Amino acid sequence: ERVAAAADVADLRRLARRRAPRMVFDYVDGAAEAERSMARAVEAFGRVEFSPRVLRDVAEAPTAVEILGRRIAMPVVLGPTGFTRMMHRAGERAVARAAERAGVPYTLSTMGTTTAADVAKAAPGGWNWFQLYVVRDRDRNLETLAMARDAGMDVLVVTVDVPVAGARLRDVRHGLTIPPSLRWRSVLQAARHPAWWFDFLTSEPLRFATVDGAPSDLAGITNMLFDPSVTVRDLEWIRSAWQGRLLVKGVQRVDDAKELAAVGVDGIVVSNHGGRQLDRSATPLELLPHVVEAVGDRTEVFLDGGVRSGADVAAGVALGARACFVGRAYLYGLMAGGEPGVTRVLDLLHAELVRTVQMLGVGGVAGLGPDAVHLR
Ligand code: FNR
Repeated sequence: ERVAAAADVADLRRLARRRAPRMVFDYVDGAAEAERSMARAVEAFGRVEFSPRVLRDVAEAPTAVEILGRRIAMPVVLGPTGFTRMMHRAGERAVARAAERAGVPYTLSTMGTTTAADVAKAAPGGWNWFQLYVVRDRDRNLETLAMARDAGMDVLVVTVDVPVAGARLRDVRHGLTIPPSLRWRSVLQAARHPAWWFDFLTSEPLRFATVDGAPSDLAGITNMLFDPSVTVRDLEWIRSAWQGRLLVKGVQRVDDAKELAAVGVDGIVVSNHGGRQLDRSATPLELLPHVVEAVGDRTEVFLDGGVRSGADVAAGVALGARACFVGRAYLYGLMAGGEPGVTRVLDLLHAELVRTVQMLGVGGVAGLGPDAVHLR
């Protein structure tokens, strides 16, 4: 298997680029506007400087941590991504199974292409979370929450950085529709990626599991469905309607984090949606320590954006994150080779994390702290 030979996530990204049609790869790989937020998120990890201690006994390097009251194998969460069956026919099920095997949570998106029940069936022993976009039809939100709860999902991640669709210019230029259609524009592409198109055209038609959306451009679907008038009051309403743990994803300022902590959320995900929404918004890794300092004693703080390796995860945790969400990293693996590709990504993240904490001279992930790393 070629995915087994991948030495890092960048290798899997290259494999993904070869396997998937350009417009599908670009939907994952791209971001909003000039893509500066995405570039900065990745670049910030490049500015990490580690301060290793030497002559510490690092024979053991446990990676397990506790988040939201439960132990996970390493401080990694597979974040929500839409249309996952577009990247590979195995889709959400494959990602959930790989997460289950690796002992880390998986988050199903409102824009997912597999139902919550089917994800639960595919990975019954996994810790499956659900991500909500608040849609205009308020009863529909409650129905969606009930579906997630009935599927055993006990952590809700409410994403708040999409009042309106971001401008993903690669998608605009490709004329990407959901689902992708084989038109004159894509025929040439199809000729270059016959295996992907064969899989795509012979698998279950791509449909959203929780929202109605006619085949259309993504921004059109988003703006039709999502409610731009959502406020903190709505979050209080969700808090009262949801019995499980509640995380808010897409927080980009310290004052907003404080306001949310006051609402009683269980966690805050410092994120700018992987740079796919407001371009040039704050860089998550830089913002993280400020949010941790302001609310870290009241709520769990997570980092999201730009994580491509286990060393990145170590840096995020050292700077105060309870765990790091990953998006594109696992999608590259999925596009490159289905479930084994996602498993390869998780194996790489784990091996890189273990190696990093050993060389840092801290006796495992629990020993990571601000003295182990600073940003140049
Ligand atoms: C996303 N993201 C996302 N977030 C969310 O809350 N709901 C969603 O449906 C999606 N969909 C989605 C699709 C694709 C293709 C990508 C790449 C991302 C954002 C995602 O959860 C996460 O915030 C970013 O991916 C984090 O950045 P990295 O890890 O990709 O750099």
